[in-house]
Amino acid sequence: MCGIVGYVGPRPAVPLLLSNLRRLEYRGYDSAGLAVLEDGTIHILKTPGKIQRLAELVEREWPSRLRQGGSCGIAHTRWATHGPPTRENAHPHLDASGRIALVHNGIIDNYADLRRRLVARGHTFASETDTEVLAHWIGELARESDLLAALCQALRDVEGTLGIALVCASDPDRIYVARRGSPVVIGVGDQETFVASDPAAIVAHTKRVIYLDDDDVAVITPTYVDVRTIHNVPVSRAVAELEWDIHAAEKGGYPHFMLKEIHEQPESLRNTIRGRLDPAGGTCKLGGLAMEPREIAQFRRIVLVGCGTSLHAGMVGRMYFEDLADIPAYVEQAAEFRYRNPILTPHDLVVAISQSGETADTIAAVREARLKGAALAGICNVVGSTVARETGRGVYLHAGPEIGVASTKAFSSQVAVLLMMAVKFGRCHRLSSEEGAALVREIERLPELAARVLELNETIARLAERYADYLDAFYIGRGYMYPVALEGALKLKEISYIHAEGYHAAELKHGPIALLDPQTPVVALALDIPGRDKMLGNIQECRARHAPVLALITEGDEVVAGMAQDVIRLPRCHELLAPIPATIALQLFAYHVARVRGCEIDQPRNLAKSVTVE
Ligand code: AGP
Repeated sequence: MCGIVGYVGPRPAVPLLLSNLRRLEYRGYDSAGLAVLEDGTIHILKTPGKIQRLAELVEREWPSRLRQGGSCGIAHTRWATHGPPTRENAHPHLDASGRIALVHNGIIDNYADLRRRLVARGHTFASETDTEVLAHWIGELARESDLLAALCQALRDVEGTLGIALVCASDPDRIYVARRGSPVVIGVGDQETFVASDPAAIVAHTKRVIYLDDDDVAVITPTYVDVRTIHNVPVSRAVAELEWDIHAAEKGGYPHFMLKEIHEQPESLRNTIRGRLDPAGGTCKLGGLAMEPREIAQFRRIVLVGCGTSLHAGMVGRMYFEDLADIPAYVEQAAEFRYRNPILTPHDLVVAISQSGETADTIAAVREARLKGAALAGICNVVGSTVARETGRGVYLHAGPEIGVASTKAFSSQVAVLLMMAVKFGRCHRLSSEEGAALVREIERLPELAARVLELNETIARLAERYADYLDAFYIGRGYMYPVALEGALKLKEISYIHAEGYHAAELKHGPIALLDPQTPVVALALDIPGRDKMLGNIQECRARHAPVLALITEGDEVVAGMAQDVIRLPRCHELLAPIPATIALQLFAYHVARVRGCEIDQPRNLAKSVTVE
């Protein structure tokens, strides 16, 4: 998720832009830049890396009249989506005339078409970004009309999500902003006005804010805010009072990043699947894979490698590929894979799954697979990360930065990407277009499904109170719920420090059942999908040993409800989608148990967000 800030008023813009941008550092980014207006000219500096590096660049490159002079400007931290984190790809971006500078948060879906039309008119581009295309598009329209009208027209032309701020050399005391799907908030100060993609950036200056709605366009000056629709019709937006303090604001009002990221999953899933579903063809469009059907049809085996949560996502993906694409698929813990001298052929596809793209064992697994001539693909969240670069092709999650050490939204997006890949691969084999179309329609349901599970937050929070004092727990599941059992146990372990073990439900009687007693609760994944009936027997086994059972069930399944001590009722969904709602429920459960236990949730003891060492 990129960060946007802007300022227009009597004070020097540069120090305010840098300090406000620093308030957004927690969101994660890989480059930064700013633009200020001075003497009828736009001055821009941008760099890969951190804001500190940008501040040093300002000190080194700009005279004091600029550093202390310009009173109108915008700044940006970029989370790379189109093109790696380079200076050229960093924001702000200029239009062809160099008179308009733009910063953007979001994804322009039809940027390739707009770029082609602009190139046909002689435009050239300095970057690989969709944002630069948008800047040129607005500039082109502004040649025929005033900038506000041009911005409104541009919003009618583009498809996708955007939160933008732009300045124009001929408008020294105003900033133009717009939003569609990516938040933009306007801070109303005393004879000064602020812009930000997140209230955290401006709450230190003012708590009076105007939240733009989707398809709002606004012109802001030090003394007024003029909001329009994309048809350039004035519209009024109330001034609200922020109730957050600065520390809460960085988490969007949530007490922890982990809870914020759990609740982001409808949006992050929407961003993961955006532009990648092809209902008409009954398939999925994953351009980053750069694989022709002919190559896909030749794969004889798929090997998924990863660690931790990513490994669990790979376990779900393995079943997707076998169920939908009839391709034998295997999952390997990356460290095990890299050291066991794996047997691979050019007909094998090794898929490396890594949220950070920097996990040492997963990188080493990729290098080992390449050495042995296997085909490679990566599934990463961080654009330009090592796994993404070393696999050379793959699918980005577009889930936005994941700050909490315990992985949450990355898992659901990884599973969604694997499902889309399996549909695509399946269509190169025996999956028909009708079957593919039906699956695509199910995948479209994912954001709404996630949102419905999040409505259970209070219910799960109350439930967690009853399980917070146990020292041990088992999570059991079968089929698609077995990896979910492992992931749910990992979540509880890593943030509540309760010793939780995930097991295949059928494995209990081969030993672990010896541990069951009234002090050992069992979380049983008994959704109404294949395997449910066998789960009834497993639940009975647990109850016979007086172990408390918390069952995740499909709403309406009162048979299982009657057998368990507690239940979490989940919305009915297709078997292939079930890992996502079930895991979101277990993320909430682990979060609230850890909260009740007073644990440090975002940075659990002994853990790092990315394990970049062996
Ligand atoms: C999961 O909550 C943990 N943070 C950890 O298991 C993590 O999934 C693992 O280290 C892999 O990280 P990656 O996805 O960035 O490679």
